Amino acid sequence: MVPTMGALHAGHLSLFVVARQKADIVIATIFVNPLQFNNPDDFAKYPLQLDLDIAVLKEQGVDVLYAPSAESMYGQDFSTSVHIDGITEVLEGRSRPGHFSGVATVVTKLLSAGRPNVAVFGQKDFQQCAVIKRLVADLDMPIEIVIAPTVREKDGLAMSSRNVRLSSSARREAAVISQGLLVAQAQFTSGIRESEQLIEAVESVIATTSAEIDYVKLVDAKTLQDATIASKGCVIVVAVVFDDVRLIDNHVLV
Ligand code: PAJ
Repeated sequence: MVPTMGALHAGHLSLFVVARQKADIVIATIFVNPLQFNNPDDFAKYPLQLDLDIAVLKEQGVDVLYAPSAESMYGQDFSTSVHIDGITEVLEGRSRPGHFSGVATVVTKLLSAGRPNVAVFGQKDFQQCAVIKRLVADLDMPIEIVIAPTVREKDGLAMSSRNVRLSSSARREAAVISQGLLVAQAQFTSGIRESEQLIEAVESVIATTSAEIDYVKLVDAKTLQDATIASKGCVIVVAVVFDDVRLIDNHVLV
């Protein structure tokens, strides 16, 4: 199973390729989950293109599409929420209260509806991957969680359904996010280990644009807690806002 919110792009499509390597039958889900949008405007502006998505899924050879309505997912009496402590309280969880409970609740519903053996998620949403791994482990779900690498535009910008909302100047500027991450990796490779220095390197690249930085952090890949000294496997996570478009990205230090 590959859960998505639709407006499919090449990043999503790479997940179907990974899923196909793992399974005979590939299920896509498309559901723009109201529970995970802490900002009503972001929900209202989320791109919808179901007909186009269906054509793409057919072309990709996806076997099954599950695209439930909001009413059928969350009826009037719906009262359950899946909450994960700890790792949901930092980074995206701090900036978007309730977001990960919304994600965990819908992913639990999608997995229990489809009962897949394998579910594929993208590394682009690093914290979401950590949350889903925790969820599946804690609730004893017999599902293998596979994480697929981030697919990028030519200039390095991580593909995202929200990219279409960037103004043309913001779209040009947005390449600084991945450029900043690469500069930090280069510094790490050259021997720099202080997180402050690596973070500043990313921030100074982003600061050349109109972006407002929400956070740039170096964290432990498992706990998502701040790391003061960088080591291989630590993750640099970034969230920035261009106008009203919030973009996230990350890089695992190698
Ligand atoms: P959505 O943003 O549509 O993303 C669906 C899946 O595609 C997620 O696993 C995400 O990490 C992955 N993805 C997005 N951009 C990617 C890229 N550039 N490269 C690789 N993978 C990418 O994430 C969600 O939807 C929702 O939170 C969901 C899990 C469906 C629950 O509602």
